[in-house]
Amino acid sequence: VKRFAVIGHPVAHSLSPRIHAAFSRQTGIALQYTAIDAAPAQFDAALAEFAAEGGLGLNVTLPHKTRAAALCAHLSERARRAGAVNVLVRTATGWEGDNTDGIGLVRDLTERHGLDLRGRRTLLLGAGGAARGVAPALLDAGIGDLFVVNRTPERADALADALAQPGRVHPRYLRDIAALGNFDLIVNATSAAREGEPLPALPTALAAPRAAAVDLSYGEAAIPFLAWARAARVHDAIDGLGMLVEQAAESFLRWHRVRPETDPVYAMLREQHA
Ligand code: ATR
Repeated sequence: VKRFAVIGHPVAHSLSPRIHAAFSRQTGIALQYTAIDAAPAQFDAALAEFAAEGGLGLNVTLPHKTRAAALCAHLSERARRAGAVNVLVRTATGWEGDNTDGIGLVRDLTERHGLDLRGRRTLLLGAGGAARGVAPALLDAGIGDLFVVNRTPERADALADALAQPGRVHPRYLRDIAALGNFDLIVNATSAAREGEPLPALPTALAAPRAAAVDLSYGEAAIPFLAWARAARVHDAIDGLGMLVEQAAESFLRWHRVRPETDPVYAMLREQHA
C-alpha cells in the first residue's frame, strides 16, 4: 500500500491522518497515512528513514516548513516564492517540495466563505513560516496593499523583500500597529497562542467595516484571536480548519492526481471542532 505521512513537532493532534483517510474512502484510492513526530534535530534523518522505507510523500507542518524547503532537490514555483514547503513528493532525484497552504487559504476564504478578496487592504500579523506560506497566494488573489506586521522588524522586512512588490507590500513593526489605519482583511499568522503566549495587543479600530479576520490555527489556538475579532465587530471571523482541509485536498491532488471533495470532510471535522 502507498505510504504517506505528516511530519511535525508536536504532531499527535494533527487532523491530517483523518482527513487523508476520509479522502481515501471517498475516492477509493488505497493508502496509508501516518503521523511522524520529529524534533528539529531529527527532521532530516526522519525524512531519510521514511524514504528508505518506501514512503512516497509527506505533509510538513510546524516547525519544519522552512527546513523542508531548504533540503528539497526541486521546488515548485509557489514553494520557492513562499520559502516554505508543506508537501513533499519523493522523486528519483530527491524530494520535490510544494506549498499548498496559500491556495488552501484562498480557496477556503473565497469558495467556502464566499469572500471577495480583491482590493482588500490586508494586515498580516507575523512573518514566520506560516505567514510566508500564505502571503504570495493572497497577493495573487488580488488583495490591495499588504502590511506585514511583526514583533521582530527584521523578519517583517525580510518577508516583504522576498515578496518583491515594494509598492504594494509594507513591512511594519508591531509596536507601531495603532498608526496603520484599518483593514478589510486581518490574518493572524503568529504562533503566540500555539505557544501559550498572549495575543499581541491589537486595537479594535484595526477592523474596517465588513472586515474579515482569519486565524491560520484552529481549535484552542484560534480562540483568543477570534474572540478579539468578534469584539472588534468584524463581519467574518474564520479559523484555519477550512484552510487545513483545502491544503490537504491540494496535497492529495499532487500525490494521486485526483481532487477529493472537501465539503463532507470539512463538515465532519467542524462538528468536532465547533
Ligand atoms: P510559524 O511557522 O508558526 O510561522 P515561526 O516561523 O516561529 O512559526 O513564526 C512565528 C511568528 O509568530 C513570528 O512572526 C513571531 O514573531 P517574531 O518574528 O518576532 O518572533 C510571531 N510570534 C510568536 N509569538 C509572538 C508573540 N507572543 N507576540 C507577537 N508575535 C509572536
